[in-house]
Amino acid sequence: MNDAEALKKIAGEAACEFVKTGMRVGLGTGSTVKYTVLELGRRVQEEGLEIVGVPTSIATQELALDVGIPLVELGSVDGLDIVIDGTDEFDPHFQLIKGGGAALLREKIVAQQSAAMVVVADERKQVECLGAFGIPIEITPFACDVTVAALSTLLNCEVILRMEGSEHKLTDNGNCIADAKIGPSINDPIATEASILNVAGVVQVGLFNNMCDAVVLASGNGVDTLMNPKGRL
Ligand code: A5P
Repeated sequence: MNDAEALKKIAGEAACEFVKTGMRVGLGTGSTVKYTVLELGRRVQEEGLEIVGVPTSIATQELALDVGIPLVELGSVDGLDIVIDGTDEFDPHFQLIKGGGAALLREKIVAQQSAAMVVVADERKQVECLGAFGIPIEITPFACDVTVAALSTLLNCEVILRMEGSEHKLTDNGNCIADAKIGPSINDPIATEASILNVAGVVQVGLFNNMCDAVVLASGNGVDTLMNPKGRL
């Protein structure tokens, strides 16, 4: 395991401390939170941890079932106690860019239904100003080129549809996904989110504002939990 992977594992596993027996847990998507799912599965199997999970993607659903975490439909429970998820960037105000793994729509639905959100990250994800990663945007397949052009005009940057070979990449929801190459310039992520959502054809945007309560951050110095002073935890 290389250094970057080791940091993901440290962060992913450390976040499990937020999960207690009886909780309804949102299970995020990505290569960092994968370690959270693996560790929660181990605790369920070996330590009698009693939880139910709601996955944010088909990939996470398959992994959670593999490791023995009981899953439920989001609509069958009255909200979730916590969601643990990865991020592509987080800023000093705990605003996030997500969607590098194309799971942003289900991730945001699950996050909005959760009483708390804990993010797992390594130090490469910590930024002063959001945007270097780009903004993932899920859009309807109908006239997706037109929506992409409208977004490009709105944001004054290149917006690129993700491809898989010669086909548009499709999300778990059957939509297209594009990345706005905006650069580290998002000074007002709340306004940027609202303006993108105003474009017809946009299903959801990977700006997650005022949702994250804590970041479990792994770096060369070990693991640190950054608590959002305006958060719910
Ligand atoms: C999935 O769509 C994303 O939001 C991921 O949570 C995010 O890209 C972080 O993934 P990694 O932990 O793999 O970097």
